[in-house]
Amino acid sequence: MKIIRNVAEMQKQSMELKRAGKTIGFTPTMGYLHEGHASLMEQARVESDIVVASIFVNPLQFGANEDFDQYPRDEARDIQLAKEKGVDYLFIPAVSDMYPNPTGIQMLPNQRIAVLCDRSRPGHFQGVLVVLSKLFHLVQPDYAYFGMKDAQQLAIVDLLIKDLNFPIQLRMVPTVREEDGLAKSSRNVNLTSQERAEAPHLYQALQLAETKIVDGEKNPVNIVDEVKQYIKTYTSALIDYVEILSFPNLTAVDWIDQDVIIALAVQYQHVRLIDNIIVNKAGERVHALR
Ligand code: PAJ
Repeated sequence: MKIIRNVAEMQKQSMELKRAGKTIGFTPTMGYLHEGHASLMEQARVESDIVVASIFVNPLQFGANEDFDQYPRDEARDIQLAKEKGVDYLFIPAVSDMYPNPTGIQMLPNQRIAVLCDRSRPGHFQGVLVVLSKLFHLVQPDYAYFGMKDAQQLAIVDLLIKDLNFPIQLRMVPTVREEDGLAKSSRNVNLTSQERAEAPHLYQALQLAETKIVDGEKNPVNIVDEVKQYIKTYTSALIDYVEILSFPNLTAVDWIDQDVIIALAVQYQHVRLIDNIIVNKAGERVHALR
């Protein structure tokens, strides 16, 4: 595995690989890698000649009061894990190299926004769009792998790729969970032990919603109420949102007669956690972008 820290070198390397006819699979991350990230790398390894992973904690996607400084970092461990997963090139650029000047372009989505995380993290997805546009131009992937755990991000990347004609196929990778159901996240290390103990209830709340839909409940309002009640009863977390929206368009639904995302975000002392499931109208899980 080769580590590349320089932006220009990454782009040169990718261009050479493309000229040699290689397909590139890309897994962008912010590091502190866990099995969720590993699962993206594994899928990339299966279908691409060359796997490129990036580690870059992107300051542009963190709000002023968010956890940029506390975001966990462990480069040595990340390098080891990427090696084990068969990554060919690990791109770890410096902030000063990615953003030598304040960015002169803003990217403002018109769709799939103003819902879910965008409401409590204004500007976050704009930061994600800028960094991913840059990374896509640097790495030139044929396939890009994104986790379902960050479903709104995935939906917005889908829009980016289609609207701006990036020659990239987007792959949606299922959420990898701890044995007790908690979605793996780099941020989980910042939970207190009590919070960590109760956090599996978040996924149980989503499973409760799933059961309701399987049993024939079609009214999203009733389901959202039950999910909120469950979280309030079993956790000390502050609910940021529980929403049921169409997927991947993320529009309001007043009846569950299509693929929907049931998504939640809660705030703990030092960590904000998100989780979701995507189901069809019969309550069966959906694992691919349609
Ligand atoms: P990060 O939070 O490090 O996540 C990198 C990728 O791993 C994302 O596609 C995310 O959805 C996926 N991922 C995280 N936890 C997962 C889990 N438990 N199961 C499956 N996949 C999981 O998302 C970002 O970084 C950044 O916003 C980034 C896209 C790199 C842009 O800066």
